[in-house]
Amino acid sequence: MKFLKAIFLFFVPYGLVKLYANYKESKKPDLRLQDQHKAERDANQLEETVLENDRKTISVDYNAITHFFMETFNIEESHVLGGSIPQENCDRIIQAIVKNYSTNRITGLNIGNFLGVAFTYILSNMVQNNNQSTFVSVDPNIPHRGISDLETKFISCLHEYNLQDNSLIINGYSLRKNTSNDGVIFDNYDPKEAFDLEKGCTGVLDKLTQLGKNNFQFVILDGNHHSEYLQQELERCTSLLAPNGILFLDDIDKNWKLLKKSAFHFLKANNHAFEELYYDGRILALRRK
Ligand SMILES: C[S@@+](CC[C@H](N)C(=O)[O-])C[C@H]1O[C@@H](n2cnc3c(N)ncnc32)[C@H](O)[C@@H]1O
Repeated sequence: MKFLKAIFLFFVPYGLVKLYANYKESKKPDLRLQDQHKAERDANQLEETVLENDRKTISVDYNAITHFFMETFNIEESHVLGGSIPQENCDRIIQAIVKNYSTNRITGLNIGNFLGVAFTYILSNMVQNNNQSTFVSVDPNIPHRGISDLETKFISCLHEYNLQDNSLIINGYSLRKNTSNDGVIFDNYDPKEAFDLEKGCTGVLDKLTQLGKNNFQFVILDGNHHSEYLQQELERCTSLLAPNGILFLDDIDKNWKLLKKSAFHFLKANNHAFEELYYDGRILALRRK
């Protein structure tokens, strides 16, 4: 039979043989396509369950957020609280935002995130007001207060409270690279010795400005605490803030005398562009005119 087939093929024109072979090939089931269909079906099923879970309600309890970090990652309370804007100052920030924007959809920018306690608390309140609101965080994810890999912990917290859809995380330095812990040795971690090992994207505020001016309804500045650095951040934030937008500066107190001096100097030199909204002894809030 094989022999007869070989003789038959010998006399049939090559074009016809090729045509037949192509026809037979096209009738074979396409395994790669079947695999793709299955992969898409399985993925869709899994993704649907995530969407279902996302409909959980959002907790707005500051203590619950701090306990989340203490219990999930075994971080000492003194570190979680000591490195975060306290609840009463966050409440005042939220009040000012709500008063200024009512239930409008807003976009905020947070420079200096640490674990994201203040970010999570403020965002959960923003979302309750308008669930389309967005909060953008900028942090280089370098060790702070002896705690490393902050970003993984922060993302876990956002998932815990279903805030991942309202958050945008930018891993980088607001301006140029700076030392961690504001240059202070913490738990035997020396920022000067570790400087070369700490890596991250730089110039985030300039890039955000290139993407568009006046995009943010409010900005919280709580990153590098060196006074000259803050001056430069303030200049960049002026064009990022929308008219009537609010700038919140943290740690404007006696523990950070140079920072305080720098903040009030900026206000004096820029009173044509900003007015003081409030000063609670720690947060200085400025409104863009
Ligand atoms: C005081 S903590 C922020 C606490 C946070 N605002 C809260 O209340 O939950 C300062 C954070 O700023 C980060 N940081 C330092 N330099 C920065 C820079 N140039 N740009 C952005 N973040 C910076 C530090 O690594 C640290 O995570």
